[in-house]
Amino acid sequence: MNHGIDLAGKVALVTGSSRGIGAGIVRALADRGARCVVNYVDDPDGRNRAEAQSVASGLKDAVVLQCDVGDAAQVAAMMDQIRQRLGGLDILVNNAGILRDRTLKKITAQDWDDVLRINLSGVFNCIRSALPLVRPGGRIVNIASVSAFLGGFGQANYAAAKAGVVALTKVTARELAKQGVTVNAVAPGVIDTDMTRVLPPEALKRLLDQIPLARFGTIDEVVHVVAFLCSPACGYVTGQVIHVNGGLFMP
Ligand code: NAI
Repeated sequence: MNHGIDLAGKVALVTGSSRGIGAGIVRALADRGARCVVNYVDDPDGRNRAEAQSVASGLKDAVVLQCDVGDAAQVAAMMDQIRQRLGGLDILVNNAGILRDRTLKKITAQDWDDVLRINLSGVFNCIRSALPLVRPGGRIVNIASVSAFLGGFGQANYAAAKAGVVALTKVTARELAKQGVTVNAVAPGVIDTDMTRVLPPEALKRLLDQIPLARFGTIDEVVHVVAFLCSPACGYVTGQVIHVNGGLFMP
C-alpha cells in the first residue's frame, strides 16, 4: 500500500534500520515502492545483523549492508556496493544514532567522542560519500532531536551532535539545491523505542509533564513525516527542521 506516495523505481538507504525508528522508516519507504537498503552495524552478539535480516525479509528485494556510519572507509565501501548493485541512490535517511547520557561532571572523553563520531560525523560521512550517487530529485532526511533545541539535561554530547546535524542539514540543502535534491531534518521529541526505554523513570516523568499532548510519540508518527519529506510531492521544502514532539518544543 503506497498511502498516496509513490516511490516506485526509487532506491533508498536508511542508516541504522535494524530496529526502532529506522526499521519503521525503511518499512514505510518499501511499502511505498522504493527498493531499500537496510543498514546495520556489527555488534558482538550478532543481534543487529539478525534484526536487519528480519526487517529485510519482510520487504521486496531489500539489500542488507553492514556499515558503521562513524567509519568513513566503511561508509565509502557501503556506497560503492549500492552503486554496483542498485545503480544509484534517490533517498538517504540518516537515522543511525546512539545515546550516552551523563552530566558534564561525569562525562568522559570517550562518551563525547563516540556520540559525536556516530551521530554527527556519521551523517557527514554518509552525505559526502552519497554525493556521486544521488540522482536529481533526490531526498536526504537527517534525524535530529528536540535535544538540539532544548539542550537536554545530561546530553552535552548528544545535543551538540544533533545541533550539528541541524546546521549540516542547512548547508547541504544549499549546496545540493542546484541538483534538485532536497535536504531536511526531522527532530523527534520523546519516542517510545529502545533508546528511550533506558532513560530513568523520573527523567521520563519530568519530560512527560512538559508535553502538551501528554504522551510520548510513536515510531509511526515520526515515520509518516519522514515518508512525506521523501515523497516526489515534497519538492519545495528544503533546509527545514520538522518537529515531531507533541508540543514539547515550539520554535
Ligand atoms: P534505537 O537505539 O532503537 O536505534 C538506533 C539504530 O541505530 C539501531 O538500529 C542501531 O543499531 C543503529 N546504530 C547505532 N550505531 C550505529 C552505527 N555506528 N552505524 C550504523 N548504525 C548504527 O534508537 P531510535 O530511538 O530508533 O533512534 C533513531 C534515531 O532517532 C537516532 O538518530 C536518535 O538519536 C533519534 N531520536 C530518537 C528519539 C527517541 O525518543 N527515540 C528522539 C529524538 C531523536
